[in-house]
Amino acid sequence: MKRDKVYRLFLLKGDRKTADAEQKYVKQAAADHPKGRWTDFHLPEPHAYLWMPERGQDESGTDYLLRVRTWGRRWADKARAVPGSRWTLTDLEWHDPEAVRALAESFLLNLYVFDTYKAERKAVPELAAVEAEGFSAEALADLRVRADEVNWVKSLVEQPVSALNATAFAQEMAAHLKPLGVSAKLWTRKEMEKAGMGGLLGVNRGSVDEPSFTELVYKPADARNGKPLVLVGKGVVFDAGGMNIKTGNYMDDMKTDMAGGAMAAGIIALAARQALPLYIVALIPATDNRLNGNALVPGDVVRIGGETSVEIVNTDAEGRLLLADAAAYAQKRYAPAALVSMATLTGAASRAIGAKGIVAMQERCTEDMLRCLAQASEDVQERYCLFPMWPEYDSELDSAVAELKNCGSGAAGMITAAKFVGYFARKTPFLHLDVAGVAYYGKDENAWKKGATGFGVRWMSRFLELWSGTLK
Ligand code: BES
Ligand code: ZN
Ligand code: MN
Repeated sequence: MKRDKVYRLFLLKGDRKTADAEQKYVKQAAADHPKGRWTDFHLPEPHAYLWMPERGQDESGTDYLLRVRTWGRRWADKARAVPGSRWTLTDLEWHDPEAVRALAESFLLNLYVFDTYKAERKAVPELAAVEAEGFSAEALADLRVRADEVNWVKSLVEQPVSALNATAFAQEMAAHLKPLGVSAKLWTRKEMEKAGMGGLLGVNRGSVDEPSFTELVYKPADARNGKPLVLVGKGVVFDAGGMNIKTGNYMDDMKTDMAGGAMAAGIIALAARQALPLYIVALIPATDNRLNGNALVPGDVVRIGGETSVEIVNTDAEGRLLLADAAAYAQKRYAPAALVSMATLTGAASRAIGAKGIVAMQERCTEDMLRCLAQASEDVQERYCLFPMWPEYDSELDSAVAELKNCGSGAAGMITAAKFVGYFARKTPFLHLDVAGVAYYGKDENAWKKGATGFGVRWMSRFLELWSGTLK
């Protein structure tokens, strides 16, 4: 019934001197839509006003654009109150293209909600057009592609383990990626055993489900890198902690512990859809971390990549074991140009900077890479903070019985976790992203809605675009 209407969201300057302009446009809009009822500034009338915030004098571009994105989220909430509604953003007197773009993208990202299990599934509203100077239809199409992939990532993260075990996760990624021109190999258990994936198989010992290992390869003919960039994503489809079972409410959101894996898949999907001239591989080891009579216990020793022995001190430090197997395989098979691991790896990351940004650590990354990371973060307004990888942390992982133990004393937990994974990537530039604090929001906050966020996909995707530019 409401489908024929197009809701117009007018973007106005932040100060009240626009009253005249407002009058003018209300009249014009009323003339354009003689049947529309223009009674007030409220929905469900077919128009609404948004006084765009103006950039403060001392405000950085990112601070400001994040504020704009917060409005995008709020307006998406309003739009969703009218299921299936169609929206046009109309830039009346607002000429900051970055602000209009940030608003439009945030609107698109936040229109999506996970309602698979709701009795009433509401049609997602649509952003039909952005009427702004210099904002082409292609620009909107680009934003849609990005938002679609991020929203796909979110939908995976939201699925409970009963619907998305390790095998289903692998199959879902393959089904999504293959039509985009990305090859997908799902490993058999035999192959994992042959590669000596003692970390993945060890964690899986406590599970009734099979583990999975997904190898996604995007290799365009015009790739500018000979050796691939390898993404490694943690795919723990549920983290009960294993024998060191999680207590209190620490287990509540652990269906989201495959967010790093979904993120890696989303990044490679976007690269393919944007036809980036980059050779990229994504490796996603997956299992749940539960417990039964055969589960890994503290004191057990596993072998990563068939070689490196690791003493298990705590079965809840499982993600790094999966990442290590994948990194060891990447090293042998691909000798990567760089390895980027991404994971909901430690509570320490979340405690350090909260839900405001990604905790990042790096070793041997080139100046070019670091510059592109910083630029990309500014471009898409996803924040990160680099933590140190000083050699003094290394001894935290010394084991009396094996080459390494799987966790340190607890201090700087996100760093010792990165150190553990980095041990298996020590021949390449290594970037590690701990997304434990940002992958899943407990409440609406800033630009992000409660629930899975897809945080970091846009950042990495923009990074790859910028970085590919430096390889020419
Ligand atoms: N998946 C958790 C980390 C996590 C915590 C993610 C909160 C998202 C929100 C990870 O496997 C874990 O349990 N880490 C332990 C490591 C510890 C045992 C060394 C942690 O951070 O407590
Ligand atoms: Zn975990
Ligand atoms: Mn854990």
